[in-house]
Amino acid sequence: MKRRKFIKGMAAAGLAGGLTMGGGGLVGMAKAAKKADIGQCKSLKVTCVSETSWFDSPTMLKDIKDAGGAMVSHYEIPWTQENIGGYSALIEVELLDGTRKKILLDPGWRQDWMDYVFAKSGVDKMLDNREIDMLVLSHEHEDHYWALKSVLKHHQDIPLVFPNTFYPEGKLLMEGKYKNDLAKVENDIPHTGERVELGPNDLYNPYPGVAVKMFDIPILLRVRGEQNLFFNVKDKGVVAVTGCCHQGVLTMLNWARRNIDGFKPYGVYGGLHIAAFENWDPKFDDIIQGVKGFGLRKVGCNHCTGWIWASKARAQGVPIVCGTERYREYKTLPTTGKGAPENVYLRNGDVIEF
Ligand SMILES: [Fe+2]
Ligand SMILES: [Fe+2]
Repeated sequence: MKRRKFIKGMAAAGLAGGLTMGGGGLVGMAKAAKKADIGQCKSLKVTCVSETSWFDSPTMLKDIKDAGGAMVSHYEIPWTQENIGGYSALIEVELLDGTRKKILLDPGWRQDWMDYVFAKSGVDKMLDNREIDMLVLSHEHEDHYWALKSVLKHHQDIPLVFPNTFYPEGKLLMEGKYKNDLAKVENDIPHTGERVELGPNDLYNPYPGVAVKMFDIPILLRVRGEQNLFFNVKDKGVVAVTGCCHQGVLTMLNWARRNIDGFKPYGVYGGLHIAAFENWDPKFDDIIQGVKGFGLRKVGCNHCTGWIWASKARAQGVPIVCGTERYREYKTLPTTGKGAPENVYLRNGDVIEF
């Protein structure tokens, strides 16, 4: 984490001011700039370590409903353990000078599932060998964050980037001081490495062509704030990589259009939180039109996007990249998309390159 920029004061109207952080290696932004110059990278590869946060949506919905609904804290729900997996993505970036960086987006949810998928994808060894440069936490939701211990047991001091809106339970989990027998979440391994906490006016630019942007938004199950990564790939354009994308895919892309210097839309990977439980709402058609308007070249989606949305978007010309059958090798299979004629998700074990 040597070459990096931490851009403070990114207001809607542009950069309010630059900042040089203490501790070495942090470089401020030019004060006069209207948009953020995040630099460029050469290429980007994303591996779906696991997109199956839960295996069966009706069971997930029932857990939430039985506990009192979506306004109940996720720390107060007795989740059906056999339905739980987790979300995690391995991001490999090649910089213009040929250096390669690895970023893990989210540790996932149930520890034994994440231990299994980390072993299957080789992420466990990469963590042991200090090959993964940083862990980015998209948001505090159970399915993205609660298996933090599955990462820390391999690399306790991994540099960590997270939104500054975590609740006390989430902070205790990071400190290795949290155990909750009702929701079944625990961690007794304190994170000991460097932490970068992002607020809504910050843009973190750890390497040329790589940025993390936090959106301060309210999210169901008493979570606040989500961040996603942007990559500016030379000769291609900007690729957004997300966890759940509770900020909304259009909000995310519009932010990039307004704030990233030289923005050219190119791709998206991740959960897009549209028809998360396969429900339909006419406004989802409008999201299809909005996404089409960006003229993206590659859209790899999964998790909370909604199979129904991905199918409809593909039928209407959004360049959805279909997954392989590799996910069938995993020990638990999702019920989502069962029997569908084509695989509109990038599923467990799939890879997309930008
Ligand atoms: Fe999620
Ligand atoms: Fe979420």
